[in-house]
Amino acid sequence: MAVVFPRRLDAIQSLVPQDAQCVADIGFDHGKLLTRLVEERPAVRAIGVDKSPHAAGSFMKRDAPNDPAALARIYLREGLGLQPLAPGECECAVFAGLGEVNIRDSLLASPEIVAGFHTMVFAPVYTAGILRKGLKEIGWRVNQEKIAYENKLFYLIYTAVPGEETMTHPVMQYFAPRLFEEKDPGLFFYLKDLKDLLAVKIRYTDRQPPGLREMCLNIDAALALSAEFAGEGYVR
Ligand SMILES: C[S@@+](CC[C@H](N)C(=O)[O-])C[C@H]1O[C@@H](n2cnc3c(N)ncnc32)[C@H](O)[C@@H]1O
Repeated sequence: MAVVFPRRLDAIQSLVPQDAQCVADIGFDHGKLLTRLVEERPAVRAIGVDKSPHAAGSFMKRDAPNDPAALARIYLREGLGLQPLAPGECECAVFAGLGEVNIRDSLLASPEIVAGFHTMVFAPVYTAGILRKGLKEIGWRVNQEKIAYENKLFYLIYTAVPGEETMTHPVMQYFAPRLFEEKDPGLFFYLKDLKDLLAVKIRYTDRQPPGLREMCLNIDAALALSAEFAGEGYVR
């Protein structure tokens, strides 16, 4: 059967735990996630943080909810990373559309805020394993992974919870260990696309992020492993 991937924002939203009463969206920008969360979950409060002083204004003009009761549950704060949050204020934080290093550094800068979360959701612009390694170092483990596909681009989106990372597979640890463990039929297509991307990055990126070389060395083996449970193509 052909694989149908979710769209990016749908995948991110689906990974926000249903029992979270307060969700922080770090780098909310257009704010579509904030609006979806308060519109679809009547009890949820959503805190949007963005370093840009223009984010709040453009959100209010474009993508804010029309319903005043829903809008009243959105709180917008200007600032960097987790700094505008108070410890224990939210159970879940989402970091979407930010670079891995930026996200990792935000976590390292605010350990007291991170300690209050039950779950964090990540959709970095590009995945080279830097954040995954950082999570392991602060005692968090990746527990769910999803692949999204939109406008001919694949995205790896995942959640982490406090706990020890048990990822041991020598090849899949560089890519998507949970999807490999689950024998996800879409993993092969994500990796196939990633192989082309890596070939470009390794050739043309002057300052290669750490992790890229390991990914290049292991991508063929990962593809061969995931081919064993690949779906019959995917819906584009
Ligand atoms: C590409 S947009 C992502 C929008 C949305 N989260 C998404 O995934 O579709 C990145 C946004 O994050 C903000 N941003 C980047 N780094 C940040 C940081 N460390 N703290 C707060 N905001 C940040 C930028 O100002 C920008 O509005």
